[in-house]
Amino acid sequence: MVVCYPSLMASTYTVFFLLSISFTCGGAHPQHMQCSHPISLGSSLLIPSSWPSPSRQFAFGFYPEGNGFMVGIWLVGIDNKITVVWTANRDDPPVTSNATTLDLTKSGKLLLKTDEQGKEKPISISTTSDSASFACMFDSGNFALYNKSDSIIWETFRYPTDTILKGQILPFGGQLFSSASETNHSTGRFRLKMQYDGNLVLEPANTVEDASEVYWESSTGGESRNLLVLKDAGLLQIINSTSVSVKNFTSLDSNNSKTIYRATLDVDGVFRLYSHAFDETTGKLKASETQWSALEDKDICEVNGFCGFNSFCTLNDDKPYCACLPGTDFVDAIHKSLGRVRNFTEEGRCGGGKDNITTTLNMMWINDIPFTYEHTSTKEECLRSCLEDCNCEAALFIPNLYSQKNCRRYKLPLRYVRRDTSMDTVAFFKVGKRSWNETIPVKPPVIVFKSKKVIVQILVLILAFTAFSCLGLGISGVYMFKIRVLRYKRLKESEILGLTKGLTLNLFSYDELRRATNGFKDELGKGSFGTVYKGALYKGKKLVAVKRLEKLVEEGEREFRAEMQAIGRTHHKNLVQLIGYCAEGSKRLLVYEYMSNGSLADVLFKGVRRPDWDERVRIALDVARGILYLHEECKAPIIHCDIKPSNILMDDFWTAKISDFGLAKLLMPDQTRTFTMVRGTRGYLAPEWQKNTPISVKADVYSYGMVLLEIVCCRRNMDVNASIPEEIVLSTWVYKCFVARELEKIVGSDEVDKRTLENMVKVGLWCIQDEPFLRPSMKSVVLMLEGITDISVPPCPTNIPCKLSLCKENSISILM
Ligand SMILES: *[C@@H]1O[C@H](CO)[C@@H](O)[C@H](O)[C@H]1NC(C)=O
Ligand SMILES: *[C@@H]1O[C@H](CO)[C@@H](O)[C@H](O)[C@H]1NC(C)=O
Ligand SMILES: *[C@@H]1O[C@H](CO)[C@@H](O)[C@H](O)[C@H]1NC(C)=O
Ligand SMILES: *[C@@H]1O[C@H](CO)[C@@H](O)[C@H](O)[C@H]1NC(C)=O
Ligand SMILES: *[C@@H]1O[C@H](CO)[C@@H](O)[C@H](O)[C@H]1NC(C)=O
Ligand SMILES: *[C@@H]1O[C@H](CO)[C@@H](O)[C@H](O)[C@H]1NC(C)=O
Ligand SMILES: *[C@@H]1O[C@H](CO)[C@@H](O)[C@H](O)[C@H]1NC(C)=O
Ligand SMILES: *[C@@H]1O[C@H](CO)[C@@H](O)[C@H](O)[C@H]1NC(C)=O
Ligand SMILES: *[C@@H]1O[C@H](CO)[C@@H](O)[C@H](O)[C@H]1NC(C)=O
Repeated sequence: MVVCYPSLMASTYTVFFLLSISFTCGGAHPQHMQCSHPISLGSSLLIPSSWPSPSRQFAFGFYPEGNGFMVGIWLVGIDNKITVVWTANRDDPPVTSNATTLDLTKSGKLLLKTDEQGKEKPISISTTSDSASFACMFDSGNFALYNKSDSIIWETFRYPTDTILKGQILPFGGQLFSSASETNHSTGRFRLKMQYDGNLVLEPANTVEDASEVYWESSTGGESRNLLVLKDAGLLQIINSTSVSVKNFTSLDSNNSKTIYRATLDVDGVFRLYSHAFDETTGKLKASETQWSALEDKDICEVNGFCGFNSFCTLNDDKPYCACLPGTDFVDAIHKSLGRVRNFTEEGRCGGGKDNITTTLNMMWINDIPFTYEHTSTKEECLRSCLEDCNCEAALFIPNLYSQKNCRRYKLPLRYVRRDTSMDTVAFFKVGKRSWNETIPVKPPVIVFKSKKVIVQILVLILAFTAFSCLGLGISGVYMFKIRVLRYKRLKESEILGLTKGLTLNLFSYDELRRATNGFKDELGKGSFGTVYKGALYKGKKLVAVKRLEKLVEEGEREFRAEMQAIGRTHHKNLVQLIGYCAEGSKRLLVYEYMSNGSLADVLFKGVRRPDWDERVRIALDVARGILYLHEECKAPIIHCDIKPSNILMDDFWTAKISDFGLAKLLMPDQTRTFTMVRGTRGYLAPEWQKNTPISVKADVYSYGMVLLEIVCCRRNMDVNASIPEEIVLSTWVYKCFVARELEKIVGSDEVDKRTLENMVKVGLWCIQDEPFLRPSMKSVVLMLEGITDISVPPCPTNIPCKLSLCKENSISILM
């Protein structure tokens, strides 16, 4: 043990070191360019000067902002305006003193200094601690610092603000933030993120990452580690880590090599590609033209948070317009997007039904979470329930929602309210005792409703039908009409389903689920949380799995709902999707999508057909990506606590999906503190469960390691029927074979790829280390399995009763 330790630590550090390198260098720019006009040490800029690029199209230096200057890079001389593409320390206030200089010091640092004695400390512009030997401003718009051996040590291309330029990359995990306004380049309200699952998304910047906030996505998620690149000639595309294009947003423009392209996340939250053509006659760039826009034909009210809190977005003459919700006023009448505050005194707010309530039609706020739901048969009842509830500040009545609970009560602020005529909603807002002076026009002047199209279509259908029947097609006409009405009904149904599927969870009544499962007859299995039944919803159209929870920690309905909403917001192709739930009295049921091909346990241990090697590798990655999403891409990290093959289900296409996530909390009220009761499943439980130490995401990594070894070998981690005693415990046996370089033993006669086999075993052994800190994160696991980072030799997982000699042998081999 003692002998093992130092070398163990050294080897993990190399893993993490390699990982961190690969992350920070993800955005490194591809070609090493020659610098024709190097900027030497000791150079300095005074306000308002700059260092131009050789072509003089870009410049680096001071540009005016507010009543001072910022340091940045801009496109020069388009209509005598500057187009800022990068800003240093964008959230710092502008410098106002004319005694400020930007220095590339003799010691190789890039500093902003104010020369008034003892006034300010110099501010570093770059984020490197290395010393530069010269700097360079390129024609591409990149500004770089070089070290003595001519290597780039820092460059602006690696730290984009709101824009990427030709040749620039938005790496895996990278993000752009919009500017606050056209004239203020500090961090604004929207972000563009290349997520770890390969999906490029737009969402409000001030929110925690969460699928429900997303208002635009590239739909390239779930595949791999993708990058966004702006290639030469205006080709904006997403490529995967092997540089294969996954999605093109624009096509090549082959006729003008002098055109400058930039892709900017604009102030209004829309990501656009602009071109600036070069005018040969004046030798200057022309004004920008929009080549592509992320929202394309959608209207800007689709941008979540376009209007800020407590306001709603409508289109007025095709221009977005933000209006206050009743009872609220603009925080700042000029910057309407800042949002609104309630404008009435708090006292007397709940004066026994004396509150004034205003009613507005056709408003919707799907992404906000109500604090309670209930069923009311009329809108008047819904109104009354809000009046009687002191906490209720707004209510939404949705007449024909599938779920029974069509009256939702909310507290302010509401974030994403918009006009929506598709659901015939009625909204109520408490406005206090003060009469409200500005009323929202119930029918705003010019609003383009998408559903008008539907209405027109229906009218056309009816007219066509009338014409037909007039022509004496009598019976056949009636027949066709029926079909059409049916089709329309179905369209409407799927609209509602679509709406509720991605964005909010359905609430089901117990009766509804009892009917759907035929009285809980068809049992699919028993899990640690309760029994699962097969069912069919929406008149048999959608197969579902209904889980009846048992053994719950006593918990209020509200906490349960909050938990359900959190689970409902997870969307990943390797997670089983929660469709809805039921919470009535003490009854708690969850409704999941139905997985037709059973669990991974069936596939691995019972399977008629052993999955082939490629399939096993794919399953291992699928599971790892699902856990990675739970750990790193949810609002709050979700620790699964019970990763095992029977909790991993296979869909129609044999994609592995993790189930039962997020439920551990319902059994354990406080997940982060020490658990008093060990749960989970033996064989997959990390040692810390027994040790009374805090449980972290690393407990899941341990369970994953076990599952990974099982996937590799297609056998259970404990097999008492094994032919040789040393094969009984899978991890011990695998480790022995690994040290003895006899890995082919563990896969028997299966045809495998030796390199992937070794990699998977190494990852598995790292994951099942006794010490949580030695286990890699799920992100590292995915990268190692994808072959993107190297894997060092794993030490002996100490829970294995391995002989000291074995460990010594191993530590020597590591040292060598
Ligand atoms: C720019 O916007 C930020 C945040 O919106 C604000 O704090 C800052 O004062 C603004 N700066 C100027 C110069 O207006
Ligand atoms: C800075 O501005 C002040 C007044 O605005 C002026 O007196 C002074 O000469 C200026 N200094 C420099 C270095 O330009
Ligand atoms: C310059 O940077 C490169 C890459 O970071 C590094 O390999 C090299 O050792 C550095 N050279 C000096 C003289 O620091
Ligand atoms: C990139 O995409 C290509 C083509 O779809 C595929 O063959 C390749 O495996 C992908 N690379 C990764 C790392 O997923
Ligand atoms: C994207 O465009 C490039 C260049 O025109 C082409 O080679 C590639 O196949 C395209 N990729 C996709 C996914 O359409
Ligand atoms: C490039 O060529 C296409 C058709 O070949 C043309 O429509 C387009 O206007 C040209 N663009 C420029 C900037 O000349
Ligand atoms: C509320 O509205 C009144 C009248 O419109 C106005 O005078 C007052 O300043 C507002 N209060 C707040 C906090 O905005
Ligand atoms: C509610 O508002 C109306 C007009 O908007 C006013 O006439 C009525 O007195 C108000 N009721 C209360 C209880 O304040
Ligand atoms: C309501 O608005 C009218 C004119 O728009 C104004 O005369 C009246 O004073 C306002 N009432 C209150 C309570 O603000």
